[in-house]
Amino acid sequence: MDFYNLMFTAIAMVVLSGLMLVLARKIMSKKPNLPPGPPGWPLVGNLFQVARSGKQFFEFVGDLVPEYGPIFTLRMGTRTMIIITSADLAYEALIQKGPVFATRPDENPTRTIFSCNKFTVNSSSYGPVWRSLRRNLVQNMLSSSRIKEFHNLRSTAMDRLVNRLKSEADANDGVVWVLKNVRFAFFCILLAMCFGLDLDEETNERVDHMMKKVLITLEPRVDDFLPILGIFFSKQKKRAIEVRKEQLETLVPLVKRRKLARGDETSVISFSYLDTLFDLEIEGRKALSNTEIVTLCSEFLNGGTDTTATALEWAIARFIENPDVQSKLYDEIVKAAGKDRKIAENDIEKMPYLNAVTKELLRKHPPTYFVLSHAVTEPSKLAGYDIPLGTTVEFFTPPIANDPKIWSDPEKFNPDRFITGAEDADITGVTGVKMMPFSVGRRICPGASMATIHLNLMIARLVQEFEWSAYPEDGKVDFSEKLEFTVVMKNPLRARIKPRV
Ligand code: HEM
Repeated sequence: MDFYNLMFTAIAMVVLSGLMLVLARKIMSKKPNLPPGPPGWPLVGNLFQVARSGKQFFEFVGDLVPEYGPIFTLRMGTRTMIIITSADLAYEALIQKGPVFATRPDENPTRTIFSCNKFTVNSSSYGPVWRSLRRNLVQNMLSSSRIKEFHNLRSTAMDRLVNRLKSEADANDGVVWVLKNVRFAFFCILLAMCFGLDLDEETNERVDHMMKKVLITLEPRVDDFLPILGIFFSKQKKRAIEVRKEQLETLVPLVKRRKLARGDETSVISFSYLDTLFDLEIEGRKALSNTEIVTLCSEFLNGGTDTTATALEWAIARFIENPDVQSKLYDEIVKAAGKDRKIAENDIEKMPYLNAVTKELLRKHPPTYFVLSHAVTEPSKLAGYDIPLGTTVEFFTPPIANDPKIWSDPEKFNPDRFITGAEDADITGVTGVKMMPFSVGRRICPGASMATIHLNLMIARLVQEFEWSAYPEDGKVDFSEKLEFTVVMKNPLRARIKPRV
């Protein structure tokens, strides 16, 4: 190599190193300005602090709110979680910047198996597939006219529930378990709406049992946050595949049965979610496979069962704690339907106190404390902080529903707050966020209207049929909470019931 070549190579290397240095500086300076949060450890972040705290995740997060306020960051292994706890920021993200905050983060491998690679309404990314699936669900199953069409199913399920409770009480000195009975009633309604089949009690129980197994399999594991630890979870991964197989073996025969019974004029249930899925066309995709259909049906069943049942268990706990609320509600029921006629769906619209009770219930006991995980479609900003692509955005809602700046005496369970006209809340959040049991914005729960009807109807019917009181008699209701897919009572509620007629 001659002198000039040598010089050229040397200069080129100096320039290149300079360029690399500038680039590195630029990359370093692009480090996002994330919201503050508790200091974590290298690699694992806050993951082991959460695991070793002895607290449930919602308690761990709740304890951070006084220190970190409306927005903070937790580093959970490889995941960065930004947690939002204020009404203003929830409004800004989900309403004002709605489309940007409307997508979902990546799923862990177990969830991907059960969601058919994000082919459900709740898991799909914000885009055309989500739009088609959601539109089909809302227009064909959850619109107010559709909901009305299914009133017979609800009426039958309520009658069966009342009979179940009566026989359980007869056999147990007047005492019944609340959650498991109401949960099963909601599950049967959804199962019939979903498959359009009048299934016997045994099949209902078998499907219910299998769906619970699925939920247990989907519970988060440490390797969801630190995939490198995946090698230690091969047994759990194998189990997930077995449960998925069992789910398909249980539900595909029901799909085939409905396909055969379709168009049969004598069919007891004339329309079902399955029917909509048989006909569903999504641009660029073939007709839905049985596996995809089972996945969407499972979402329908899971979405509306534990959520609604949990709320009802808390309702009964509140009635026992506040006999005056229960008797005021009973008076309204008698006024609307008399003592002999069963309360009907069209009575409910004329019952302001019942509606206030249900709203207060969802304020104090939203079945989930976090709405589903959100993510951004493009890098964004909130409260002056960066929200980068790939972060998980969580909305932790109890600080909103219990904010003394929004609610007077927020700790008190007081349905009257909605009656006097002094306080109200737009549950859709469009005019402002004050409580968000169904979330708000693009991803707001599409089942909110149906869930409210189910809750109103069941609360009214159960108070019309029975007077609810504490068991044991002198016992105080224990309002401790535990996370079991939803936030349920830590000690499942048992209550004494006395038939009113
Ligand atoms: C009291 C009962 C219920 C509560 C408290 C509830 C609450 C929620 C919440 C908080 C979300 C998350 C929204 C978000 O990520 O921003 C959600 C989503 C969803 N819920 Fe519900 N839900 C209830 C009943 C139902 C029912 C009855 C169904 C249907 C049968 C249903 C179907 C869904 C679906 C499909 C999604 C996903 C929506 C999307 O990602 O676009 N839910 N629900």
